[in-house]
Amino acid sequence: MVRPFLCMALLLLMMTLGTGCSVLDDRRAASFDGDAPTILITGSNRGLGLEFTRQYAAKGWNIIASCRNPSKADALQELADSNEQIAIETLDITSDEQVNALAKRYAGQPIDVLLNNAGIYGTLEKQTLGSFDFEEAKRVFDINSLGSLRVSAAFVDNVLASEQKKIISLGGGMGTQSIGRLFGGHYFMKMSKSAHLMAMGVMQTDLKDTGINIVMISPGRVDTQLMRDSGWTGPSISAEESARHVIERIGLLEPKHNGRLIMYNGTQIPW
Ligand SMILES: NC(=O)c1ccc[n+]([C@@H]2O[C@H](COP(=O)([O-])OP(=O)(O)OC[C@H]3O[C@@H](n4cnc5c(N)ncnc54)[C@H](OP(=O)(O)O)[C@@H]3O)[C@@H](O)[C@H]2O)c1
Repeated sequence: MVRPFLCMALLLLMMTLGTGCSVLDDRRAASFDGDAPTILITGSNRGLGLEFTRQYAAKGWNIIASCRNPSKADALQELADSNEQIAIETLDITSDEQVNALAKRYAGQPIDVLLNNAGIYGTLEKQTLGSFDFEEAKRVFDINSLGSLRVSAAFVDNVLASEQKKIISLGGGMGTQSIGRLFGGHYFMKMSKSAHLMAMGVMQTDLKDTGINIVMISPGRVDTQLMRDSGWTGPSISAEESARHVIERIGLLEPKHNGRLIMYNGTQIPW
């Protein structure tokens, strides 16, 4: 009687440890400064996310730098080597399990700025009239539309407990009537960013009496992998420049910006 019970208990223990380990193995603890503000960034291993991490680190912030594969995030690891206020955490924003596990680990930690940065463009051919691939649509939506909502909902209490109380989601211009319908194609990206605007906008309405500020910021045409995936070959700005402007915008946000989409240069885009 005892042996099957022990085996089952051992199996359960291994399953529990196994699930946790994929998250715990890759994490890199930090030493936060209690007097400094704290930011959580998604997709911090490359592109704008890496640049945000670099620039907020230079300002002395505590950073929860999350990404899908920390063990492959060489540039981020290098950054954290010289800054003990950067905690690297595993986070796939499509995973309820990972999002909830991270929120549980940081329960009680005030987060001044939650920066929903992770996003994808999706494969262009698969979102072109005549060759739609709706599995690709689901992938793009899961990341671009549901990802920010999933992460924001999980960390509301952390943001509420902070001084600055800001939830920022990047992008949205392609999801507006004025920009999205200027040219054809790019369906899933445009649709997913429309849904992203609505998700964050409704959340702002839900939380309007809490003091939390939810704002969507368009970083411009930035020279990153995502821009190359879009097929754009026109003028662009560097991730360094874009992040610098976006950080300045975040610092200047006022309640009147709540629920709005603003460009990195401060122009508001109706949506
Ligand atoms: N670049 C532009 O011109 C431009 C314009 C407007 C808006 N934006 C917005 O800016 C944000 C950052 O984009 P970027 O230009 O820096 O693109 P990027 O260089 O391609 O970086 C995208 C980031 O998102 C991460 N990511 C993708 N799927 C993820 C998932 N399921 N879970 C967690 N992370 C995930 C990627 O991680 P992996 O390395 O693991 O894939 C990567 O870190 C996006 O939201 C994008 O929509 C960019």
